[in-house]
Amino acid sequence: MFEEAQYFAPVAANEDGSVTVELAKSHPGFADPVYRARRNAIAGLAVGYTRGEPIPHAEYSDEEHEVWSLVTRELAAKHRKYAISEFLDAAEALGLPKDRIPQLEEVSELLKPLTGFRYIPAAGLVPLREFYSVLADSFFHSTQYIRHHSVPFYTPEPDVIHEVIGHGNTLASERFAALYRLAGQAARRVETAEALEFVSKVFWFTLEFGVMREGRELKAYGAGILSSYGEIEEFRGMDIRPLDVTAMGTTVYDITKYQDVLFEAASFDHLEDVVGQFWASCDDEMIAKLRTTA
Ligand SMILES: [Fe+2]
Repeated sequence: MFEEAQYFAPVAANEDGSVTVELAKSHPGFADPVYRARRNAIAGLAVGYTRGEPIPHAEYSDEEHEVWSLVTRELAAKHRKYAISEFLDAAEALGLPKDRIPQLEEVSELLKPLTGFRYIPAAGLVPLREFYSVLADSFFHSTQYIRHHSVPFYTPEPDVIHEVIGHGNTLASERFAALYRLAGQAARRVETAEALEFVSKVFWFTLEFGVMREGRELKAYGAGILSSYGEIEEFRGMDIRPLDVTAMGTTVYDITKYQDVLFEAASFDHLEDVVGQFWASCDDEMIAKLRTTA
């Protein structure tokens, strides 16, 4: 199965209607009963959610708001150095709160006049087809919990910092939003599991971990890099390869460590020409052919 399955803590529904998030022993919040109770309650909000309703309010502690505020401040400084200008402009237009964790409903409201993207709360892993296909309708599945306050610059799973600072800021750009929608249309068009995985890997190496030449500098635009305090300092030293759909769709990656193979777009136009065009036109047959040439 696709590696992403190991990325999220499993969520179990109990007979009494409650929800339990099974954190691994190595998770920083494993031995913190207060954090675990909050994780269970937050996951429960997503399990009971029906699309179209306002997203339920998640309770966060003061310590958690402080984590957001600290990471926001540190990442913003790094973004000025390492993020592409399209991202910086979009972040400015979105105007996320700096001193507290925003509710997902609030982020949807901020996105509404910009690109119309809306958040859907997710308890944990969302099946690939569901996650990608609703992008076509401008919906984005997002976790709502935040990392454990003892290690503000580390998270073993995608948390609200990744989903909102990484993805939310990009979803505020019309050019990025169009690419997300095209990825969704591609996921909806293809039928085989192999083709869907190929589409999702191209997403991984671009909208999650993409880098782009801007003038003489290599910058980042992928939400995974832009939300990672450590990775954002390291990406320029990785194995940087030219943007190539076949290579991205077939390269194996390990989600548990920093991405050491990255693909570089020469410009935003280049990204749209190569990856946007691919998602706009791909089908099972085309992808099957690309896979045999890899
Ligand atoms: Fe992500």
